[in-house]
Amino acid sequence: MSNRGGFSDRLGFVAAAAGSAIGLGSIWKFPFEVGSNGGAAFVLVYVLCCFVFCFPIMLAEVAIGRKTHKNAVGAFGVLGFKQWSIIGKLGLVSGVLILSFYNVVSGWAFGFFIEIMRGNFGIGKEFSTFISDIPLMTTYSALFMVMTAFIVARGISGGIEKATKIMIPALFVILIGLMLYAFSLDHALTGLKFYLVPDFSKITFKVIYSALGQAFFSLSLGMGALITYGSYFSRDNNIVSSSVIIIAATISIAFIAGLMMFPFVAYISQGTMQGVGSGPGLIFTVLPGVFESFGTTLGIIVGGSFFLLLSFAALTSTVSLLEVPVAYLVDEYKWDRQKTVWGVALFIFLIGIPSMLSSGASPFFTEFITYLGATKATDFLTFVQHIANDTFLPLGGFMISIFTAYYWKKENLDAELTAGNEGYANSWVRPLVHIAVSFVCPIILGIIFVLTVLDRFFGIALV
Ligand code: PFF
Repeated sequence: MSNRGGFSDRLGFVAAAAGSAIGLGSIWKFPFEVGSNGGAAFVLVYVLCCFVFCFPIMLAEVAIGRKTHKNAVGAFGVLGFKQWSIIGKLGLVSGVLILSFYNVVSGWAFGFFIEIMRGNFGIGKEFSTFISDIPLMTTYSALFMVMTAFIVARGISGGIEKATKIMIPALFVILIGLMLYAFSLDHALTGLKFYLVPDFSKITFKVIYSALGQAFFSLSLGMGALITYGSYFSRDNNIVSSSVIIIAATISIAFIAGLMMFPFVAYISQGTMQGVGSGPGLIFTVLPGVFESFGTTLGIIVGGSFFLLLSFAALTSTVSLLEVPVAYLVDEYKWDRQKTVWGVALFIFLIGIPSMLSSGASPFFTEFITYLGATKATDFLTFVQHIANDTFLPLGGFMISIFTAYYWKKENLDAELTAGNEGYANSWVRPLVHIAVSFVCPIILGIIFVLTVLDRFFGIALV
């Protein structure tokens, strides 16, 4: 594997990829997307998208990375299809955009950790003032970017792997604990019903593309992050079972986060579920009040651990986001790894400033754009999410499926997936993966892509 470094073993890869997947997407974004998109109907569509579209694309991404031992752009050249490196380039753009706002929200999570540790449970009510305090937010997000760069600079197995192996189990434990507590509160059933009993009339087209975007985002797919991580994965390991574990772990964390959040929302709103659709502030406004109900000491311990773990979960994701452009520049231009890490981190931090200003501090970025046919303006941070998560990532997935099925060819995918997994050649998964990459993903993702752009940005609803 030359001198690029690599994961020490299968668990290392799985931990790092799961670390990339599990993050703000599952704990911050998933609950508020569910809340804003009609509850259980969204959950159902999300889970379906994970299995039908994301699983085959995950296999393809990891296989491409491992086969070539290259970054998201260079991999396509090694396979002999340089013109397809456009997929990797689109991925780089998506990654830079995602990290730019992700780092800002990570700063919120880290800031909440500090506030809760100081016993400031009122911070939930002051959420909007807090996130529009620019000097403070600049400090937190700069700090977060420094931590990210520090880990990435230490390289693959030394930094990324170690951090995740501890963090994921700890996160599971605290979420399950909070979930059990949530179940014991008044109105818990109302919250669970909202979350778990689907009302099919609520499945609108917006629910579908939001859930699809969420599935790609939460599994870190469609932008070459898993091509990059796959490139550090050794050939005697099983890609298929590793992918199943990564997906199962991510869906479980998101699902448990929902089991925890909605009873809390029901409790705080006294069964009315008011505020459930409040968007990005959901966990930040609801949880501090819950921690306060534990009493000061316990509240600080539980609340502090929650926001600390959330920050860690975010960190193992920001690390993978930064690794994508860094691997590209180091592989392709032979740049010095250390300098590249710090330079790219600074660049992306600066690109994140408009997102930081878009929660009230700057009217221009707060009311950044009004889509055609929309009545309300969209802020810059949400706009970037609409572009990168909900549009570019599924587009990347669409292109990866076409590339894999019709250019790289299914036989080569099979050969890579069979390495480290002898049984794959005769397993029932193989024909399903073929159907998915050749037909289901290209056709359906292609259609959804076009309809999403028309619906969201131009107000043209064809369905
Ligand atoms: N999967 C991460 C999350 O859900 O928080 C976000 C993410 C990380 C998206 C890495 C894309 C990526 F390449």
